[in-house]
Amino acid sequence: MSNLTVYPGPIAGQTTVPADKSITHRALLFAAIAQGKSTIRNYLDGGDCRATIAAIRTLGVEVEEPHAGELLIHGRGLTGLQEPETVIDCVNSGTTARLIAGLLAGQPFHSVIVGSEQLRKRPMGRVVEPLRLMEADIGGREQGRLMPLSFRGGQIYGVDYTLPVASAQVKSCLLIAGLFADGLTVVREPGPARDHTERMLLAMGAPIVRHGSIITSEKPQDPLQPLEITVPGDFSSAAFLLAAAAMAPGHQVSITSVGVNPTRRGLLDVLVEMGADITMDHWGESVGEPTGDLHVRSSQLKATIIGGKDIVTLIDELPIFAVVATQAHGSTIVEDAAELRVKETDRIATTVSELRKMGADIEERADGFIVHGPTPLHGARVDSFGDHRLAMALAIAGLIADGATVVQDSDCISDSFPGFEMILERLGAVLE
Ligand code: S3P
Repeated sequence: MSNLTVYPGPIAGQTTVPADKSITHRALLFAAIAQGKSTIRNYLDGGDCRATIAAIRTLGVEVEEPHAGELLIHGRGLTGLQEPETVIDCVNSGTTARLIAGLLAGQPFHSVIVGSEQLRKRPMGRVVEPLRLMEADIGGREQGRLMPLSFRGGQIYGVDYTLPVASAQVKSCLLIAGLFADGLTVVREPGPARDHTERMLLAMGAPIVRHGSIITSEKPQDPLQPLEITVPGDFSSAAFLLAAAAMAPGHQVSITSVGVNPTRRGLLDVLVEMGADITMDHWGESVGEPTGDLHVRSSQLKATIIGGKDIVTLIDELPIFAVVATQAHGSTIVEDAAELRVKETDRIATTVSELRKMGADIEERADGFIVHGPTPLHGARVDSFGDHRLAMALAIAGLIADGATVVQDSDCISDSFPGFEMILERLGAVLE
């Protein structure tokens, strides 16, 4: 288990960030069921996506890496996946587990998904329940609420399902299952959860239709077309650098080719509202996903309140947002974010406990937190609890803290942001 020591100091310069994790997972899974060879350029070579690569290999899909950063996936078509001879290990990746559950539910074979101790604690009932409504035969610990899960396979049927909480993983699971179901699958979402699944499947020719907050999926008449995709930089990784540059004097960062899908860039909108100096240019597009370059320089920030439907658009960014809020003037309130409690860690409890060790004035609430600022932070020994986003949020807090900050158990950073330390050092951070 390694530790990361961060010393205070500004970061400045231009960089890229690794590829989008959510888009990489989807590209891998959908390429597996496309007809023919897909090329995925600039995929995310991090722990979570490696679990998805191993998973599709276990289902008989050939995956080649002819050059660093490029994958060729030999898709087996909608009916060509093979019964796995062994369990599918999702390791720490909730996205792998929940999306592949939708894929496995309607296959004509038996399969089992397992995961790490961390993943085995995370709720799976949210996908098992609606899949059972589709008549999928699924077993699991505690009546299917926890992994490992087993899928007996067989015919499944379309369902009309209203998501109890906005979740892209649950939505995606059901839309994927809908591709193998008899009849129409209707998913009604209470908030704008990331829509990468819809965009990518549509680009591959799948019958995915959106009417406002209702999305439908059904069996494609024709095979899915293979993908030719260059995955954009992950906004959720860029968020750590954006936050660092936005909140402390002397910082200034440009991040190029970042995915700026409106269902993902909630943090950007909130930072701008708080007074952050952020501009965007070089707009582009990759398989239906908007991209752009982001330029941020520090400015004085004022506190804000976030809740309701906005939460889902920045759910993964809330730990780093808490750090930003410590430097904003006034009391920042985050509410309606109880979903944070079922992420890699209980991110309300862990963010509050670790930032308090650094001197933050932050209070825990059942569904979020309140931060009073601005407060000078001081270096401390803090714990990531194996949560990649918490580890990075604490490291960024270390850049503006007085003295050294030691982030314990920092290896998990490579689950989503391999090269985080190297990029920070190139931008001038002093790390050990
Ligand atoms: C993800 C969806 C979100 C997010 C996770 C990735 C995805 O989870 O927190 O990091 O790729 O679909 P939920 O769907 O549970 O909100």
